[in-house]
Amino acid sequence: MNLILLGAPGAGKGTQGHILSERFSIPQISTGDILRANVRNKTQLGVRAKEYMDKGVLVPDEIVVSMVVDRLKGDDCISGFILDGFPRTIRQAGALEETFNGMRKEGGIAPFIESVIGIEVDRKTLVKRLSGRRVCRKCAANYHVSFSPPQNIGMCDKCGGEIYQRDDDKEETIEARLLVYENETFPLIDYYTKKKLYRAVDGTGAVDRITKAVVEAIEKGSHNT
Ligand code: AP5
Repeated sequence: MNLILLGAPGAGKGTQGHILSERFSIPQISTGDILRANVRNKTQLGVRAKEYMDKGVLVPDEIVVSMVVDRLKGDDCISGFILDGFPRTIRQAGALEETFNGMRKEGGIAPFIESVIGIEVDRKTLVKRLSGRRVCRKCAANYHVSFSPPQNIGMCDKCGGEIYQRDDDKEETIEARLLVYENETFPLIDYYTKKKLYRAVDGTGAVDRITKAVVEAIEKGSHNT
């Protein structure tokens, strides 16, 4: 299964991607997580990406595209992958297609995108989710101050790591990210609808209900749930 999870910041791409990755034993490729790991490790890429991420704007396409293309060459992607947070612009989607076409022209086996699932959530809920999100510094486990708090304040249930608030989850940056989504990523819905790959899922309510709806949407084919 080669899947793209589309949705606004806070829609639940990371949450659902993690569950699906475990269920189907395929990697979740989150561009946000890869970029944050680079920022943490102060790599050249991370230093460059940080100035964009802190403002809530997109990291330039050329950085992100080559990062994803490299990751997709990993042996663990042969039986499938979940792209979480990529593509985020029409240009990135085009670059992904060109990469796969190029691989085919060279006589290699290249994947096809089989499903694009859009997790749809209203703006008020998105802001509530993002402003309350907390993340483990060590294992990146996700929490929410109201919906899924850790058992001990400030400490990860899974690994005991420190829990922190992402810099881009501060209120002023959240607004910028939502605007960037509307202007740059939202047009991908039309792009993938025309390719008959896009299916929308209601991303509000219980996490396991949403997972069920996502799996049904993947299985059912082109049909909005
Ligand atoms: P990235 O990390 O991808 O952030 P995002 O798209 O803004 O997505 P989020 O991680 O904020 O949200 P999510 O949809 O994964 O929701 P989650 O499951 O965590 O990107 C960060 C930055 O990196 C970008 O701003 C950009 O600068 C850069 N970047 C990344 N990709 C790029 C690209 N392709 N091109 C250029 N730049 C790129 O859930 C959110 C919260 O809600 C959590 O607390 C969770 O516990 C909670 N929650 C989830 N589901 C539910 C539910 N059903 N009910 C209640 N709470 C829920």
